[in-house]
Amino acid sequence: MNTKQKKIQMNQMDKKAIQEAAQILRQGGLVAFPTETVYGLGANALDEFASSKIYEAKGRPSDNPLIVHIAELEALDKIVKVVPDNAKKLAEIFWPGPLTMIFEKKEIVPLGTTGGLNTVAVRMPKHALALNLIKEAGGYIAAPSANTSGRPSPTKASHVAMDLAGKIDMILDGGAVSIGIESTIIDVTTNPPMILRPGFVTKAMMEAVIGEVSIDPTILGDKELNDRPKAPGMKYKHYAPKGDLTIIEGEEEQVIVKINCLAKEMSDKQYKVGIIATDETINRYDVGQVISIGKRSDEQTISHNLYRVLREFDEKNVDVIYSESFQSEKMGMAIMNRLLKAAGHKVIHI
Ligand code: TXA
Ligand code: MG
Repeated sequence: MNTKQKKIQMNQMDKKAIQEAAQILRQGGLVAFPTETVYGLGANALDEFASSKIYEAKGRPSDNPLIVHIAELEALDKIVKVVPDNAKKLAEIFWPGPLTMIFEKKEIVPLGTTGGLNTVAVRMPKHALALNLIKEAGGYIAAPSANTSGRPSPTKASHVAMDLAGKIDMILDGGAVSIGIESTIIDVTTNPPMILRPGFVTKAMMEAVIGEVSIDPTILGDKELNDRPKAPGMKYKHYAPKGDLTIIEGEEEQVIVKINCLAKEMSDKQYKVGIIATDETINRYDVGQVISIGKRSDEQTISHNLYRVLREFDEKNVDVIYSESFQSEKMGMAIMNRLLKAAGHKVIHI
């Protein structure tokens, strides 16, 4: 299949290209498009056959449900049975935005879209191109991250092309995304609502709006934890870079010493070493390929760069990667959650 790529200027959106993409979606095809979190791989969410193509293109396990993207609040009633008060309040503050909510689904949403579940995940992205496309395409776009299953989520159109060119109909290139990690997921069918995946919208931000919010205990737990994560996708070892990634956790000075020591040891054994540092620490490492992931003092720069940096190490074909650790409060929880998964939970505490 020939994958069309169209560059869209965000300040002067090409209506024709969006209409062409929408037409592909209406006819059951696949179109990748940017959102504010990561690029999504879209299909008509209400067409079971169309969403089945997403699983095929990504190599995604069929029990891993998709998020349905909407462009208007009024669109919600057609696909969910009840909109709990908590959800109304959260939508008012955080939609459009990087928050996905889980509802009981109506009949009209095919089980093929929800991985066989009776619930459906819904999100309204904060991205003009995505919103236009969703409206033009009929209002309901199922879209997982537009990567091959198990690869880091794409934050640029070139990442999508690398994974999916030849397997999908079209890529809309709207430039680099702003946030860089996937939306927060909260299950609003329970009381208190439960966070199933941490993201830009934090527990504290939601508690300020609706009061108590719980967190799925498997989120930051180690892989030995017997509980199954409530978001099926969270059980897979995601985002795994080709190099063997280990996170070093502890007091900053000791972490730097330890990473230098490990890097030297491996490099002496002829392994190609990568190091994930920060702007504050990058000059402290002297062995291997050292990349800064962002500023510790501005954690949003870290989420923005995380997946790109993991992909860069893949391109450099490093054998092992050592990473500093990022504290688990605020956005740090989302960042650590993704990094721990990428590392298959390999952590050295010092
Ligand atoms: O930021 C995002 O959310 C991006 C952009 C494209 O919107 N999308 C995204 O989709 O990250 P994906 O498919 O990579 O992740 C969806 C996650 C999976 O972990 C899946 O298991 C969970 O959402 N999920 C979807 N429907 C669910 C449901 N009904 N119950 C529990 N978890 C659900
Ligand atoms: Mg994904």
